[in-house]
Amino acid sequence: MSSPTPIILDCDPGHDDAIAILLAAGHPGVELLAVTTVAGNGPLDKVTANARRVATLAGLLDLPIAAGAARPLVADHEASVEIHGTSALDGPALPDPRVELDPRPAVQLIADLLDASRVPVTLVATGPLTNIAHALDRVDRAKIGAVVWMGGSTGRGNRTPYAEFNSYADPEAAAAVVASGIPFTLVGLNLTHQAAATPEVIARFEALDSDLGRVVAGWLEFFGGTYRDVFGEPHAPVHDPCAVALVADPGVIETVEAFVAVETAGQWTRGATIVDLHARLGHPANARVAVDLDVDRFWNLIVDAVRELG
Ligand code: BDR
Ligand code: CA
Repeated sequence: MSSPTPIILDCDPGHDDAIAILLAAGHPGVELLAVTTVAGNGPLDKVTANARRVATLAGLLDLPIAAGAARPLVADHEASVEIHGTSALDGPALPDPRVELDPRPAVQLIADLLDASRVPVTLVATGPLTNIAHALDRVDRAKIGAVVWMGGSTGRGNRTPYAEFNSYADPEAAAAVVASGIPFTLVGLNLTHQAAATPEVIARFEALDSDLGRVVAGWLEFFGGTYRDVFGEPHAPVHDPCAVALVADPGVIETVEAFVAVETAGQWTRGATIVDLHARLGHPANARVAVDLDVDRFWNLIVDAVRELG
């Protein structure tokens, strides 16, 4: 088996971010070097505490966790209370955090880990791209193997009719990262809506008969409830672990090459991702775009990771 891909997971937990942390920590295809946090689903203090609680719950007591940007590059921060609750991770009770917070700002931790790594590191981002945009001129870019981002969509949005939440939260950051020339993969709503947490999926986590399995099932129940209330959808799409899965087990997701841009100025479309799947704009492809998920293989990965940790 080839060596695991070293990754840093930049996130805003968040129910699906929390499951992304578990997949990253429990799958042998990736080596989770650190978790960094960014204001997104909740304010920075809440999402950082949530990351530390999730790491505590999963026994990841040595996982470096550092806090990053408290606000987007230009816009004001807006939490996603209607989807993730006031704590940004409402639902099952979680332990008090016993994982220390790394004293370095997130970008400094990223810079130090890149410097220390002998091989390029993949940045997996599952929140607004603010930290990654800040990192662009403060780290050795040659050590970033790729940025894999859960954000945007080839179709419509969820925060506004045309903008996905992470993209809407900081379009300037997303535009800067896409334009940076660093290999970039977009894992958007068109892909993540294939990762539906059906009752059968939730039952698999309950059947693990572990505290961690029961908490994951509880998160998915909570997330499913808000998706039903807000969107009228029968099952929650479990977005963020899809980005980790693509790195851990590349065969789980099919991608295509396309030109991608992020709208920063539209009156109604700010944060929309323009994904030119049919090359109509005449620009060369600048991104890989996730289009098709092997659903059974994806859920097997997550159940196996939770079993491994639990
Ligand atoms: C994204 O927004 C957040 O609600 C989720 O954590 C995910 O990263 C989906 O649009
Ligand atoms: Ca997220």
